[in-house]
Amino acid sequence: MADKRIYIFDTTLRDGEQVPGCKLITSQKVEIAQRLEALGVDVIEAGFPISSPGDFQSVVDIAKAIKIPTVCGLTRAVKKDIEVAADALTYAKNPRIHTGIGTSESHIKYKLRSTQEEILERAVWAVKYAKSFVEDVEFYAEDAGRTDNIFLAKILEAVLKAGATVLNIPDTTGYCLPDEYGAKIKFLQENVKGIDKAIISTHCHNDLGLATANSIAGIQNGARQIECTINGIGERAGNTSLEEVVMIMRQHPYLNFTNNINTRQLNPISQLVSERMGMPVQPNKAIVGANAFAHSSGIHQDGVIKKRETYEIIDPLEVGVDQSKIVLTARSGRAAIAYRAKNIGFELSKLQLDKVYKSFLQVADGKKEVSDEDLTEIIEKVNVVSTEYSK
Ligand code: KIV
Ligand code: ZN
Repeated sequence: MADKRIYIFDTTLRDGEQVPGCKLITSQKVEIAQRLEALGVDVIEAGFPISSPGDFQSVVDIAKAIKIPTVCGLTRAVKKDIEVAADALTYAKNPRIHTGIGTSESHIKYKLRSTQEEILERAVWAVKYAKSFVEDVEFYAEDAGRTDNIFLAKILEAVLKAGATVLNIPDTTGYCLPDEYGAKIKFLQENVKGIDKAIISTHCHNDLGLATANSIAGIQNGARQIECTINGIGERAGNTSLEEVVMIMRQHPYLNFTNNINTRQLNPISQLVSERMGMPVQPNKAIVGANAFAHSSGIHQDGVIKKRETYEIIDPLEVGVDQSKIVLTARSGRAAIAYRAKNIGFELSKLQLDKVYKSFLQVADGKKEVSDEDLTEIIEKVNVVSTEYSK
């Protein structure tokens, strides 16, 4: 089966930066954009230029600094938004305007106080207007996840005719189940005339913890672009995590999805974004969390020490983590103690290990984690000679 190239659209600097407390200054945004370019993303959504002079300037500076990826600016289906975004993207080598409007019943009735007919007209107008500035125009149907499929198909067909190059199907509220979201993409593939000329994009929020699963269901049903953020940051519970979708594609090669990401940079860029935004990564976060390659129970430690693959499906080096961690806790067993003791220079005989293990448990029961210093003290108390000393 032929490879299916998936475009990675990073919105860390737009949807991600909307998070309270995550605001960045322009120089930090340019720094992150350059690291995203080195990571290999295809599109960088640099900001929402009309939203503030600072965001406008960030899009200008990112557009100047970035050479290969497309640089994208967000707009509403509003004349001034589109003009300001076009202006901010003047220096981009590959500019894209991302325009759109709410399409669900709830958005049309309560937020926009409008009708389907008017929304369709505004959508077509916005795409045509954006197209008068740039060739590459992405249309988002906000709240597509809760939009009636027949109306969604109708509006997408109309914006395609108006010149949209990418069709974004956001699950704005993170409501969809993976099979439902996948079926939506399939329905659009089968019912929108001319859709083969455009790229279908996923943009999934994580309100029910399904953003990654929904994005994967999207590409399994014909989408070719995933919108995502580093560390999964974004409005409310966040967006699809870039590192998760990329590693899913890599760990399941039989699916034949390819992308351009240099996975060894995933952990370093995760740390950079976390530091610059002052937003810690939860320790159990897949791929980039501090515990993603840490093993603390005796059964797991014994397995990993014998063969890493028994409890790890990813080689930590592949994602830029130096090595797996064997953490010493009251749940650890003899294999882990012997392993960590050897790392700090003590080769324990079976008898010595039995003695060390007994004292270790007493210490470990009173602590969350036993450090190398603690272990050295325990070993020295039971009179084990370090291999370093015995040389
Ligand atoms: O979640 C959403 O619908 C969005 C759009 C503006 C693309 O972020
Ligand atoms: Zn969003």
